[in-house]
Amino acid sequence: MIARLREKVGEDRIPVVQGDMSEASIGGNFTLAFLVFNTIANLLTQDQQVRCFENAAGHLAPGGRFVIELWVPQLRSLPPGHGGTVEVSEPGYLLVDTYDVLRQHVVSHHVRFGSDLSDGREALIGRTPHRYIWPSELDLMARIAGFELESRWADWDRSEFTAESRSHVSVYRLTERQ
Ligand SMILES: C[S@@+](CC[C@H](N)C(=O)[O-])C[C@H]1O[C@@H](n2cnc3c(N)ncnc32)[C@H](O)[C@@H]1O
Repeated sequence: MIARLREKVGEDRIPVVQGDMSEASIGGNFTLAFLVFNTIANLLTQDQQVRCFENAAGHLAPGGRFVIELWVPQLRSLPPGHGGTVEVSEPGYLLVDTYDVLRQHVVSHHVRFGSDLSDGREALIGRTPHRYIWPSELDLMARIAGFELESRWADWDRSEFTAESRSHVSVYRLTERQ
């Protein structure tokens, strides 16, 4: 991703620090930090996720915003006794999520198959592990780090977040006390 960025703009315009999002530091006093496309769930423990909030807080001036885009765990679609759900089933692609509800983990298995595969293989599989987070738990992590929830939307178009929303865009504001 950094290489792709460098094809577009130079280091002088957008400097990059590569590191663990729960620990890496580039100094403070920013007005905005963001983690989009479910990225916070790539941290696999609650401790790491809280540290990530604290790290974001450490980079912001009072009143600064931390914006998170995250899916809502779909545990209602997990039948009792079953360890997984088929999230997408379409020609050439299957997405299967398997759950460990005790550890609050979900692994997404992306399976690509069919004639689109160039090198004669029958299927390609990629797996991504996540620790899923309920919106309420996310809000509590934010409070621990000194944020308050300013707004929550179902999407970037500011559509209303409801009980049926599959994901959310949440805006946290660092309280002046920090
Ligand atoms: C779902 S992708 C989102 C990528 C990008 N933000 C976007 O919107 O396209 C999550 C990214 O987080 C990276 N990642 C996983 N664990 C990380 C960590 N501890 N610190 C920083 N990045 C991490 C992964 O390598 C992956 O590129």
